[in-house]
Amino acid sequence: MADTLRILVLNGPNLNTLGTREPAIYGTVTLAQVQEKLGTRGKELNTDITCFQSNFEGALIDCIQQHAESVDGIIINPGALTHYSIAVRDALAAVKAPTIEVHLSNIYAREEFRHHSVMAAVCKGHIVGLGWRGYLHALEALVEMVREQQ
Ligand code: DQA
Repeated sequence: MADTLRILVLNGPNLNTLGTREPAIYGTVTLAQVQEKLGTRGKELNTDITCFQSNFEGALIDCIQQHAESVDGIIINPGALTHYSIAVRDALAAVKAPTIEVHLSNIYAREEFRHHSVMAAVCKGHIVGLGWRGYLHALEALVEMVREQQ
């Protein structure tokens, strides 16, 4: 059986209110439910998933640094930090393991200030507009990519 992969799932500002926050845009599934779905699929894929959400940029950076050496892959929805946090981008750039960026909404079909991601260039891939499913697709892709490299 393949080795257990360690995957870090990060969510940035306001994603703790998923489910009630602008449901027409972000859906009605809560972050706890997304994390549960990831946990279930993660077990099937023989992964060990650590989830962390914070409304604070520095807390996300601390978490990335803390897991930088031990993680096999990162899934991140940086929330609004996507569009301006060079500090989170730099933290991700310093991690050897691949990162997939996820957005619930299609950021390209929304306000112009959401069209640019400062994270995208340091991420392996980028999933937008698929709602909570995006996290599961990111997990599947990440696991496949990492196992291909092993
Ligand atoms: C988001 C898109 C961002 O523009 C926004 O600030 C969010 C959520 C998304 O998942 O669609 O907080 O990252």
